[in-house]
Amino acid sequence: MADIGMAKGAEERGHARAALDADSVREAYRRWAGVYDTVFGGVSGFGRRRAVAAVNRLAGPRVLEVGVGTGLALPLYRRDLQVVGIDLSREMLEKAKERVESERLGNVGGLLEMDAEHMAFADGSFDIAVAMFTASVVPDAKKLFAEMSRVVRPGGHLLFVNHFAAEGGPRWWIERAMAPLARRLGWHPDFALRDLLDPEVDAVERMEACPPAGIFTLVQMRSPDAPARALAAE
Ligand SMILES: C[S@@+](CC[C@H](N)C(=O)[O-])C[C@H]1O[C@@H](n2cnc3c(N)ncnc32)[C@H](O)[C@@H]1O
Repeated sequence: MADIGMAKGAEERGHARAALDADSVREAYRRWAGVYDTVFGGVSGFGRRRAVAAVNRLAGPRVLEVGVGTGLALPLYRRDLQVVGIDLSREMLEKAKERVESERLGNVGGLLEMDAEHMAFADGSFDIAVAMFTASVVPDAKKLFAEMSRVVRPGGHLLFVNHFAAEGGPRWWIERAMAPLARRLGWHPDFALRDLLDPEVDAVERMEACPPAGIFTLVQMRSPDAPARALAAE
């Protein structure tokens, strides 16, 4: 997994990259909402199940799912966990709400239209925050990380499952060539772990490659305490 941690972040890469902003994310997922489960549900299923299994091993009970999308993960949580989901896309959230109703998921306490980079929750509102296939979509992943760290109590848990850019080889070339398509796709194909966090500074507890073929990685870590967050922000 070291090669993933070593892959350069956006500032160091220096190749063409189309910026995603909140409106382009909304527009992309307005288009994806109707077909998302069919197109992505299968390939992303392994990583999603691993991430929720990791959440289910933790005490909780207050869980925030960031970028909940169509709610594919919602039926997988332990029923004693109180889950709140947020997303920028109204159309994706509508699908998640239909799922909560049809599967009678009484432990899902709210599905809210909210920007993960500027959350309306008070500090320490959750014990766990999890973002599945969302870190490479948000316009600024460092802000996502800072906000998830803020709304989770110190010592709580942050989990991410995502595709992280390769350090070299054919995959690196493909990801690099696709980078300008980010606005159309709705995610950054060349997203690196360093765009989210600094693996040398942030307390990563676990990194695990997920099927198929290890293209996704589960990252689990502790939420930094407030003084450490303030230092990191300086
Ligand atoms: C690739 S989908 C993943 C959905 C879901 N987590 C899953 O596992 O299928 C990414 C989701 O992140 C949402 N998203 C992107 N940027 C966001 C932001 N700044 N705040 C909240 N949600 C965001 C998108 O609207 C989309 O629903």
